[in-house]
Amino acid sequence: MTDRIGVLGSGSYTPSRVMTNADWSALIDTTDEWIVTRTGIHERRFAADDETTLDLAANAAEKALADAGLTADDLDEIIVASDTPEVYTPDTAAYLQHRLGAREITAYDLGGSGCAGFVLALDIAKTRVQAVSKRILVVGVELISRLMNWTDRATCVLFGDAAGAVVIGSGAGVKAELLAVTAGTDGSAADILTLETGGTRRPFSLAEAKKGGQHDIVMNGREVYRQAVHRMSEAAEKVLAQAGRLKEEIALVIPHQANLRIIDAVRSKLGLREEQVYVNVDRYGNTGSATVPLALDEARREGRIDPGDLVVLTAFGAGFHWAAAALQF
Ligand code: ACO
Repeated sequence: MTDRIGVLGSGSYTPSRVMTNADWSALIDTTDEWIVTRTGIHERRFAADDETTLDLAANAAEKALADAGLTADDLDEIIVASDTPEVYTPDTAAYLQHRLGAREITAYDLGGSGCAGFVLALDIAKTRVQAVSKRILVVGVELISRLMNWTDRATCVLFGDAAGAVVIGSGAGVKAELLAVTAGTDGSAADILTLETGGTRRPFSLAEAKKGGQHDIVMNGREVYRQAVHRMSEAAEKVLAQAGRLKEEIALVIPHQANLRIIDAVRSKLGLREEQVYVNVDRYGNTGSATVPLALDEARREGRIDPGDLVVLTAFGAGFHWAAAALQF
């Protein structure tokens, strides 16, 4: 019998600065009512001026290691999922390896896969544990507040900063077995949700900087909404089938936290009750690739997950990419 592969520990970090809807309506033409009815978001956290992506990631990673009863020395690989990296090159994983004091191990970023990045990284981590490595740190981290356009009301009110992390490994320390992971991509939708400036298509230039192009998130909100509901519910069903389990067996679904209406629509498509779906988008907004590991860690700490529970993670983001995982606690 092969060893069970799964989560050895989890941790998360949210900056202490709270940005409420009232704070936003003092800055731009928006209202608490508009934001709450459209998104369910009441407040979000923004990093302090002296915090960077690395600080957020390291905080979450250290907590995940402590929860697993491990030290950085025990890690064999690091994967960081982020669209808001520490610097352009090299990747955040290199900085994190050094900050944590890990050995000279394999470390890399999964960049550009948007809000699906963390769950996609779980797919890679599972097969890497099977093939070569023993313990892999997987981090989802975003510091979106520093890169977004603070005057674009259609996007800025949606986002927040956070980090979440898990250690994936095998053997006796597994708290939740990764039964199955699935992922998919529809690149024909790549231009529906994108930040172009800085790439080779639209290199960063003085002209771009003058119009603030480096902050321009292009988003067709309606289409993102439609696809997010469809892909997240479909991915959840697919991963359950892969794991040989039934919807009726689900104890908790932890969906990407973009918007309460998207989460509710996914819940109704899956035929689940409210208490079967974890929600914290009201407190943190959309924290990109950090939403799922942050929610997973909070759900564990709040006692929302019991031994024996079947938990499904499902995420969707730019690309479009989507991914889902089935966890047996
Ligand atoms: N405050 C007040 N008014 C606003 C704001 C704001 N913050 N933002 C936009 N509006 C206005 C627009 O200007 C527009 O006005 P107009 O009709 O006079 O032109 C109007 O509100 C738009 O309203 P709707 O189209 O009805 O807005 P909708 O119900 O589609 O909600 C939203 C917009 C919340 C973006 C929705 O489409 C959505 O949630 N989409 C998913 C997008 C998402 O979650 N993106 C996150 C990144 S991707 C991901 O994580 C999956």
